[in-house]
Amino acid sequence: MLILGIESSCDETAASVVRDGVEVLSNVIASQDELHVEYGGVVPEIASRAHVERIQPVIEKALEGADVSLEDIDALACGSQPGLIGSLLVGVAAAKTLAWALDKPIIGVDHVHAHLYAGLLERERPQFPALGLVVSGGHTSLYLCRSMLEIERLGATIDDAVGEAYDKAASMLGIEFPGGPKIDRMAASGDDRAHDFPVSRLAPDSLDFSFSGLKTSVLYTIRGAPKRANGRVEFERDETELSETEKNDIAASFQRAACRAVLLKLQRAFDHLAERGVICRSLLVGGGVSANSRLRTELQGFADERDLDLRLPGMRYCLDNAAMIAGLACEKLRAGVADDLSLRAVPTTRF
Ligand code: KG4
Ligand code: ZN
Repeated sequence: MLILGIESSCDETAASVVRDGVEVLSNVIASQDELHVEYGGVVPEIASRAHVERIQPVIEKALEGADVSLEDIDALACGSQPGLIGSLLVGVAAAKTLAWALDKPIIGVDHVHAHLYAGLLERERPQFPALGLVVSGGHTSLYLCRSMLEIERLGATIDDAVGEAYDKAASMLGIEFPGGPKIDRMAASGDDRAHDFPVSRLAPDSLDFSFSGLKTSVLYTIRGAPKRANGRVEFERDETELSETEKNDIAASFQRAACRAVLLKLQRAFDHLAERGVICRSLLVGGGVSANSRLRTELQGFADERDLDLRLPGMRYCLDNAAMIAGLACEKLRAGVADDLSLRAVPTTRF
């Protein structure tokens, strides 16, 4: 079964052809980073306009790369939720148009759910039940996956997503958006014990995450304690007064705390499931922050200690891509789940 997947939920325009849910024949991603960098974040209107310009060439390139024609495609898939509505609409409209013109099935896929699938690409099937972790720019959530289609959310962030915290910490250090990958590189040359940033635990049995305290602590470390003067909040200094070494130390200490927060809740979720009599066999991880070097090492340690089959996506499938969309769509289609031309783009996730 050949599925053409389309992804346009945020600022990446992507298309991919995947055979039988696992064999990735092409994986084309057109990033828009350069269009948003001067604004310090994704500007929805700019993103949707760029998707309109890029979607057709990206689809053509994906077909070409897979050495197939549109007629060879068995079904169309698109990320239909969650995301920026103007961005989602472009991918959904493209997939619906092709499904209508080719008279082929269409499957709308939840982007967060698809991140969990990314570690199944180009690999043998994992065993279930599995513990699931999505760490991206928009989501930080834990799941019990009884199968790839039976997913129960165990916890989620109550404020920022971990990727968002990375990007905001980077911005406080004067680094261009998206700063997550740059913090990862700076941390390699920094002392991760230089600062003892807070790791939120929330209630003792909570499986939710919170990153706002960590973010505020990083801000005060960089700029000093805030003071109110003339009705305004003023800081003692700004990031330009920090040396490279000081910045690297903050990046490394931030990263230690952020990873600690993720691992802590993962551990709690594993124990909580064991108490419910659910013994997980695998750990499915996805989302942009699963590209983080420290998190990858810590997750490997966690999985090894508990004899879990760790499904960390290859680097090209960590960030937003359409292969994970096509892969999950195949799973759904095999289970008899498909949509029709009434498929709509929805800004919120079902997961
Ligand atoms: O999954 P993704 O591409 O988009 C969403 O669905 O949100 O994730 C993007 C996020 C951004 O916040 C980016 O800074 C972060 O993933 N990211 C990283 C790394 N690579 C990407 N964060 C930490 N370390 C990295 N190496
Ligand atoms: Zn994503």
